[in-house]
Amino acid sequence: MPAHLLANYQELLMPVRQFLRCDTPSAWLAVAKEPEHLALLLTDHLHCELKAAQSAGLLLRRYAVDDVAAEQLLQWLAPYEQKVYRGHLEPSIDLKSLSKNQAVPRLRLNQGEAWQHQLVDRMVLLMKEELHHFQQVWEIMEARKIPLQPITASRYAGQMLRRIRGSERGGLVDKLIIGAIIEARSCERFAALVPFLDDELAKFYVSLLRSEARHFEDYLALAELVAGDSISDRVDYFLDLEQKLIETPDSELRFHSGPVQ
Ligand SMILES: [Fe+2]
Ligand SMILES: [Fe+2]
Repeated sequence: MPAHLLANYQELLMPVRQFLRCDTPSAWLAVAKEPEHLALLLTDHLHCELKAAQSAGLLLRRYAVDDVAAEQLLQWLAPYEQKVYRGHLEPSIDLKSLSKNQAVPRLRLNQGEAWQHQLVDRMVLLMKEELHHFQQVWEIMEARKIPLQPITASRYAGQMLRRIRGSERGGLVDKLIIGAIIEARSCERFAALVPFLDDELAKFYVSLLRSEARHFEDYLALAELVAGDSISDRVDYFLDLEQKLIETPDSELRFHSGPVQ
């Protein structure tokens, strides 16, 4: 990897590492870097990109847009979901042309609070980028003849999502904080893997850092805007939990798992 790229990505990573409580443990990396686990990591990565887009879509449908726009969002995601969950696309659908913007719904809110407008602006862009990442991972898997396999989710996101508060606004703030943490960890983990990857993947993972770092900041800014008050208690709470999930032994290797034996 050229020196200027390395310097550049360390700089991008700085706010992310300052935010998170810990780096990826070397015990996780020792297993993840084994060539035999590459197919599993890429498959999980592909699922994570889709889940990132789905979660943003869910936030929009639940908190910001009307039924017509909600339907547009579902249709936008449908071909990607079809690909992952049924393993094939309708022959008439070409994933490449889908990501060239014509499928991006143009959502406009005629009314709503400032945070709802921000949510729409940020999350539509985020979905677009996650679906582009999905397509990039998919092309790499195809080129390497890695078949699309079903994969179970890691404990990581689920354990955090179980702690969301029940109140309307508090629940949304928690979801946005968790979104920020997942984006930050993804960014940190891409960077941690880079030294162990072949050139093509290393370049790809470095290219992902910029958008994932921005996604982390967007989620955090949205959480602050929605709360209208300090969110540091909730951020601390979820960061402590996240550190445990990253540092304690896990049963299966996944992109966001703890160390496995
Ligand atoms: Fe992504
Ligand atoms: Fe992201």
